[in-house]
Amino acid sequence: MDLKENELSFSDYEVVARLHCYHLSKGFLATLGVPFLALLYEAIDKDNDSVLLVKRDEDNIVGFVTGGTGLGPIYKQLLLKPLRLIYSLKSCFLSISKLYKIMEVLLLNKDSKTSLDIPNQELLSIVVNPAYHGKGHAENLFNDLCKHFRYKGIKSFSITVGKSLDRAHAFYRKMGSIPVGEMEVHKGVNSIIYIKDLST
Ligand SMILES: CC(C)(COP(=O)(O)OP(=O)(O)OC[C@H]1O[C@@H](n2cnc3c(N)ncnc32)[C@H](O)[C@@H]1OP(=O)(O)O)[C@@H](O)C(=O)NCCC(=O)NCCS
Repeated sequence: MDLKENELSFSDYEVVARLHCYHLSKGFLATLGVPFLALLYEAIDKDNDSVLLVKRDEDNIVGFVTGGTGLGPIYKQLLLKPLRLIYSLKSCFLSISKLYKIMEVLLLNKDSKTSLDIPNQELLSIVVNPAYHGKGHAENLFNDLCKHFRYKGIKSFSITVGKSLDRAHAFYRKMGSIPVGEMEVHKGVNSIIYIKDLST
């Protein structure tokens, strides 16, 4: 059974965006703000090759995971709605460093990863509200993403994790992901690349 829901509302995307903004705050995407992230997560949810899965406690979203073939195709979809995109990014246009980083992300291509033989599919982001850490929500989300990828016939996927995210590294290793290398996503900021094998 495919776990992709496609029944999320715009206020759900805003909750997901806030979780990302507040709890993945060291990453550059968080600096682009909640309005941009809400658009980004809407585009991920609506993209046929990507998935956004959420975990709720009663009605409240307490965590989410996303997967797909990277953010490149998602950024292209956002460019098809230029007015919404420009409005959501209006606070960034005065920041040269943010514009520089946006260019860095757009120009980052798979070539920098090919020597590592990285699968096309990847876990794009996972966040659980800290009040719900250590309760198995992250494991459920990760396993649901594995189920979704298996349903799509995918044999393995990659995860790119900022070096400083200690808890995330412990989590991915616990979930059977294997570190295979390191790459510089932004100048001076290194990340570890993991691969999760789905064939076993
Ligand atoms: C990554 C994340 C989703 C994992 O969810 P979680 O509920 O914390 O997951 P777990 O409770 O299973 O913890 C994972 C492991 O971290 C380890 N851990 C706990 N606290 C830690 C700490 N302060 N530092 C390092 N490791 C820690 C534990 O060993 C735990 O494994 P265990 O259950 O075998 O003891 C969650 O921590 C999160 O949202 N982090 C912020 C966003 C983020 O970094 N996302 C990853 C982006 S790539």
